[in-house]
Order: sequence, then C-alpha cells, then structure tokens
Amino acid sequence: MGKDKLARFAAIKTFENVLEYERNQPFPMRGNWHRDFFKNDNPLVLELGCGKGEYSVGLAKMYPNKNFIGLDIKGNRMFIGAREALKLNMTNVGFLRTRIDFIEALFGPNEVDEIWLTFSDPQPQKPKKRLSSAIFIERYRKFLKPGGLVHMKTDNDLLFEFTMEQIEEHGYPIVDYRPDLYATLETETDPAQREIFSIKTHYEQLFHAKGHVIKYVCFKIN
Ligand SMILES: C[S@@+](CC[C@H](N)C(=O)[O-])C[C@H]1O[C@@H](n2cnc3c(N)ncnc32)[C@H](O)[C@@H]1O
Repeated sequence: MGKDKLARFAAIKTFENVLEYERNQPFPMRGNWHRDFFKNDNPLVLELGCGKGEYSVGLAKMYPNKNFIGLDIKGNRMFIGAREALKLNMTNVGFLRTRIDFIEALFGPNEVDEIWLTFSDPQPQKPKKRLSSAIFIERYRKFLKPGGLVHMKTDNDLLFEFTMEQIEEHGYPIVDYRPDLYATLETETDPAQREIFSIKTHYEQLFHAKGHVIKYVCFKIN
C-alpha cells in the first residue's frame, strides 16, 4: 500500500466523524444513531459505496435538518469527504468504513429514511453482489422506514437495466425515472431537484467525460 493511503487510513482512525465496523463485532450504534451519534431525531439518509462522499457531504450542506452517513470499504476515498466535513464543523454527516454486505448489523428497524446508490460497482459477473439485487434490497428493507426511498444514479447500462428489471419483477413503486438525467435537467423547474442533481461524484465526472449517459431512478421498497 502507498504511503498516502497508509497515512489516510491512520488519519481516519482519529476522525471523530468516522466509525469502522468489522464483521461479527458488536455494534452499539445500531438502533442508536440518532441518540448517540447525531444527537437529534432528524431523518437519516445513507450513501452506499460513497467513495469520497460527494453526495453525503453535498446533501448535508443543502439539508442541515437531515443526517447523512456515507458507507464504503475504502478508507482512503472516504478520508476526502470526512476531512471536508470536519473542516466545516458539520455535525449532520458521518462516515462508516465497512462492507455493505452486512449492513443489517449496522442499522436497526425503521432507523433510515433514504438510501442513495451512487455509481455503484456494476459487478458484471456477480449479479447478487449488485447493490440493487434482491439480496441487498431485502437487507435494506429491514431498516428502511415504510415509504422510504432508494435513489440510484449511475452511468452503467447493465446496472441500470438490471435495477429496472428488479423494480418491475418485485413491483417496487417508481417515484422518479430519468434514463438521461442531464437532458431532463434542461427543463427541470424544481430548484431543489436541480440542486440535488448538481452534485457530481468523482466517478460521475469521469464517466460523463467519457460520454456516458447518466441515469437516475428513485423507487420505494416497502
Ligand atoms: C465506482 S465507486 C463509486 C464511488 C462514488 N460513489 C462515486 O460515485 O464517485 C464504487 C464504490 O463502492 C464501494 N463498494 C463497492 N462494493 C462495496 C461493498 N460491498 N461494501 C463497501 N463498499 C463497497 C467501492 O469501494 C467504491 O468506493
């Protein structure tokens, strides 16, 4: 591992806004995020596979009355968002370095209001590992409030088509569907929507520069 990566790994261990979770450990924050971490009862939004955490930090700036947690296994990416949040003294955003595969161990029933899946790995060979697969949706259902939203933003045709198939197969109600997100923004009149979609993640910028079409869907699973 490079020197920079090691330094970032060491640094996030000292960050008060970053928690880490290893499988099969007790996790006292489960069910207690509002009371013990955020110290308020505001809605809780997760960004799964957050990378540098652009959505977690960006939405936290826009919505001071909501709480945000970015989850990723890569601490050196998360370092960027966590450091920014600390510099800005943001108290409504945190990070959790872990594998998303055992996410049910991390959040209690009805603890979460919304989930963002931002440019998730498409896992071409392993559909069950896709973050919108039935296996993952079953995990989310255990802690997402009734009527809670799942947002997916991606450039990847395979992942987007797979997600739309899952939505159809399981009858998840669609709240918003934009197969060419940027084209829809040219006529978008809702300033809140424009602001939310103005956030561009690291991978989003890379893929958009390559000419990939950015897609978005929002659906309910409960
Ligand atoms: C393509 S990157 C996207 C990062 C960021 N959301 C963005 O748009 O720039 C996918 C991220 O998901 C994380 N990831 C994928 N599968 C994961 C898993 N099972 N548990 C934790 N993190 C995962 C990777 O570490 C990586 O940072």
